[in-house]
Amino acid sequence: MCGIIGVIQEKGEVAPFIHQALKRLEYRGYDSVGVTTIDMDRLYSKKDKGKIDDVHRKLNLDDLPGRIGIGHTRWATHGIPSLFNSHPHFDCNNEVAVVHNGVIDNFLALREELLSKGHKFDSETDTEVIPHLIEDCIADGMSLKEAVKYVTKRIEGTYAVVAMCINEPDKIVVTRDGNPLVIGRKGSTSYVSSDIPAFLPMTNNMMLLLDGEIATLTLDGIEFEKLSDGSQVNRKTIKISWTADQAQKGGFPHFMLKEIHEQPEAIANTLRLPQEAIDKAAELILNADKTYFLAMGTSGHAALAGRHMFASLSGILPSLELASEFQDTVYGAINDTDLVVAITQSGETTDTIVAAKYAKKLGSKILAITNVVGSSITRLADHTIITQAGPEIGVAATKTFMVQLASLAQIALAAGHRSSFIDSEIISRKRESLGRLPDIVSSVIATQEANARRIAGEYYMHPSMLFLGRGISMATAYEGALKLKEIAYNHAEGYSAGESKHGPIALVEDGYPVIFVAPNDNTRSRLIGNIMEMKARGASIISVIEEEDTELEFLSNELFSIPHGVEPEFSIMPYIVPLQLFSYYMATRKGYDPDKPRNLAKSVTVL
Ligand code: AGP
Ligand code: GLU
Repeated sequence: MCGIIGVIQEKGEVAPFIHQALKRLEYRGYDSVGVTTIDMDRLYSKKDKGKIDDVHRKLNLDDLPGRIGIGHTRWATHGIPSLFNSHPHFDCNNEVAVVHNGVIDNFLALREELLSKGHKFDSETDTEVIPHLIEDCIADGMSLKEAVKYVTKRIEGTYAVVAMCINEPDKIVVTRDGNPLVIGRKGSTSYVSSDIPAFLPMTNNMMLLLDGEIATLTLDGIEFEKLSDGSQVNRKTIKISWTADQAQKGGFPHFMLKEIHEQPEAIANTLRLPQEAIDKAAELILNADKTYFLAMGTSGHAALAGRHMFASLSGILPSLELASEFQDTVYGAINDTDLVVAITQSGETTDTIVAAKYAKKLGSKILAITNVVGSSITRLADHTIITQAGPEIGVAATKTFMVQLASLAQIALAAGHRSSFIDSEIISRKRESLGRLPDIVSSVIATQEANARRIAGEYYMHPSMLFLGRGISMATAYEGALKLKEIAYNHAEGYSAGESKHGPIALVEDGYPVIFVAPNDNTRSRLIGNIMEMKARGASIISVIEEEDTELEFLSNELFSIPHGVEPEFSIMPYIVPLQLFSYYMATRKGYDPDKPRNLAKSVTVL
């Protein structure tokens, strides 16, 4: 949530790079944007509410002098999106500039204290207390670094903070607690940002700043220090395999569509994960008394599907918990014999991180499944599986969902194999089927995209839809509904088909669209019963079926068809694809930007 960038370079104006870096971070937040630079001992700023392109058209974000600057793209938590609430924020004298990601819990008390000392506030944000606190420290003779250290002692909450000051015009000071910051260096240029894509065109070497650390960026290099005792930290560089091209649209109109098309490759890459890493994950699950899957949103749907995979392939039924509810559900009833599997593509979702920290404190082991090397969850985890989707920029998760499923499938198979829950012949058949998925998903995209576009054209005026499935297809239905809600703003409910007659069926009237996820597995005949119930009430049936299922063809008004040869435990992977495409075309048909849905952000770093 919110994208931060800071750059200090030797020659040339820095603003155009900051503008481009913000574009690459826009998926993190897009209600306001701002850039501040330092030149000739004064701050130059441009900021406003609105998307980057609109604000740039109005203000020209490239036209700011100076070789050092910071930028921010906002996802508001405190105060509406407005010019004054946009970051950067400043002190009373316009000498200190700060961008922040996160929430300062005690900002009201600090604001009162600062107001009583005569400080003037321009915004309603929690962030603005930070530059004013720094201002007082500098007035007391502290350096910028000392001032930022003092701020960390006063503020409570979660934050990534990037600060600069005209008194030290060759320096950017950064710190964090709970929100991400990565640091890059190319030649004599230093970068700091919330996420790797911001500076990926310049370097794919990065260093992590960890909670409780402060770093100073200058032309000479980066200095890391622990806040607790001031000791120097020698931070290693991590090489990221992502390329700058992967973070471009590559000819597609939107990242989301490109990322849907990248799914076959993403699955193939994830199926090549080292077997030792998969076996270690399986071992952790087999050794645990109880296993809890923790996740939010789309990752939660991967967890739900994963639960089915584990039950069927390894005889283990993990508990599935919404990370945000975990503490308030388990009441401490977990211990060091348990395992938490935290599934989070970004590795930064605060709900998931907080729940995993809680479990760790009670002694549980943590297995992380994430797409981002070095993300916060990896530092909590006893073992991490890094899925291989490459950077995902579209706010609606698609390919990262797919690779979460592919890695859960591999771990479930490894667990079933190691515990001899299913015999090796069946394991081989399942493995082969998993290996065919890149081709199957590829064929679904090739054959169903035009169909998805046409059906979206027929149904885009319907304000509400139900998505129904049984067994693992319940997870497919949930995810299909979430995608539609997120980007096309339709009311959509994903439901168990069996449960639908206990309430949601009341919504159904003539022509009401009901989408059935109907693979040819052992839920099929009962699902047909649910289709009949909906048809009897006039519903318009859109089904995702296995090709040549003539009975379902006959019962459906519209069809998406999926090739034969998918094992039931993996059906969600090809069956979700037409629903992703359907949501995409519903959103674009309605004139919405699917990459930047309203009110959402790629990575939700508040509780
Ligand atoms: C997915 O389309 C959404 N953007 C959202 O539900 C997301 O899955 C959720 O916020 C969890 O994110 P994570 O996987 O990065 O933890
Ligand atoms: N809490 C800050 C604000 O509302 C930062 C939000 C963000 O992370 O974008 O401005």
